[in-house]
Amino acid sequence: MNEPVQEALPAPSDLCRELQAWDRFGAATIEGLLEVDGHRVPTYTNEFWTSKQREGHSLHEISYRACFKPSLPAFFIDRLTRPGDRVLDPFMGRGTTPLEAALRGRVPCGNDVNPLSRMLLRPRLSPPELGAVAARIDALDLSFGGELDGDLLVFFHPETLRAIEALRAYFLRRDAAGELDAVDDWLRMVCVNRLTGHSSGFFSVYTLPPNQATSPAQQRKINEKRDQEPPLRDVRAIVKKKSKALLADTSPLWRNESRSLARAAVLTTGPAQDISALPAASVQLVVTSPPFLDVVQYAADNWLRCWFCGIDAQAVPITMARNVADWQSAMHAVFVELFRIVRPGGYVAFEVGEVRKGKVQLERHVVPAAAMAGFTPELVMINAQEFTKTANCWGIDNMKHGTNTNRIVVLRR
Ligand SMILES: C[S@@+](CC[C@H](N)C(=O)[O-])C[C@H]1O[C@@H](n2cnc3c(N)ncnc32)[C@H](O)[C@@H]1O
Repeated sequence: MNEPVQEALPAPSDLCRELQAWDRFGAATIEGLLEVDGHRVPTYTNEFWTSKQREGHSLHEISYRACFKPSLPAFFIDRLTRPGDRVLDPFMGRGTTPLEAALRGRVPCGNDVNPLSRMLLRPRLSPPELGAVAARIDALDLSFGGELDGDLLVFFHPETLRAIEALRAYFLRRDAAGELDAVDDWLRMVCVNRLTGHSSGFFSVYTLPPNQATSPAQQRKINEKRDQEPPLRDVRAIVKKKSKALLADTSPLWRNESRSLARAAVLTTGPAQDISALPAASVQLVVTSPPFLDVVQYAADNWLRCWFCGIDAQAVPITMARNVADWQSAMHAVFVELFRIVRPGGYVAFEVGEVRKGKVQLERHVVPAAAMAGFTPELVMINAQEFTKTANCWGIDNMKHGTNTNRIVVLRR
């Protein structure tokens, strides 16, 4: 019997040609050159994926601070991997890269220093049926006789808080006993995502968007200013509604396939500098976006989610570099680890957003740090949202300042 013929993956020069010729959203690509420490790396600026909010699979629709859109990993997964390949994000956040990998038939791998990430991703890799979710939440006893925390009462109605406390205790107890099953895992993920937000679809009174929990002191001020008190919420109904929305796009065919991909998944908690669970040369593609200097306060943003999951947010050793030199040296250590994990001929797509209003161009620091670890910097892709609308009035200079861009350094192992 003949072996199936595997389609060749594009060489870096093919990718460059595709980006040069890109006009899917009506504008031509602006080409440039990044010169740093003796490296000369071509840059391509255009709108490479749509800026529309809701463009991915419904399972992605959970919020996380500084997450990227599913179209970003999808772009690289489609071009630089084959079905069955391992795709990794060492700073996975809500797990956009590994989830998108699984949706495209690749083996999902993800790591984050915060254990919360695994709790957010794992249940979405192999989701339960809606009926099982509804039956479980309906059957749970949501009464809680303990004392209520005054700081939490600024967010939640006392009865809602009792239900939240009951759910929290249930998940912690089941987890500690090793009895947390797939339905519990799903319910915990949905509850985490419904804790706080700015509509009646959340357990809380109006507050910051769901990916940023404010402090109790700040929330007291918000309540005073808006003259509001936390209303009673139907926790069961909210959980069922969100589960239905998340599961809307799941097909029976994918559910079947996803089980084996979820079993093969490698999901770890720890620093990206040391992912020893992944063997050498085992990953075809990394798509990631690291913490950018000290711009996003992940510990503060996630304090309430961490509380719910029994995680001490202050004890999570998040990389918080204050200056570019420290950041670059932390990223160099990550590249050394990625060089071990990625197989020869594989790729890393390393996304850095805009920092300090575009004054710091982190891609300039990524290129030498990655090259020192052994990678070949192939190109920098700059995805500018709303690019097509404004392309006519932008020069290269305008691109440096001010727009909302993804800047992705593509490296080859
Ligand atoms: C920009 S976010 C990633 C978001 C992700 N791309 C998504 O779509 O959700 C950066 C993540 O890095 C994690 N992190 C910070 N320092 C880390 C470290 N040293 N090792 C691994 N993860 C780290 C943070 O917890 C945060 O989830």
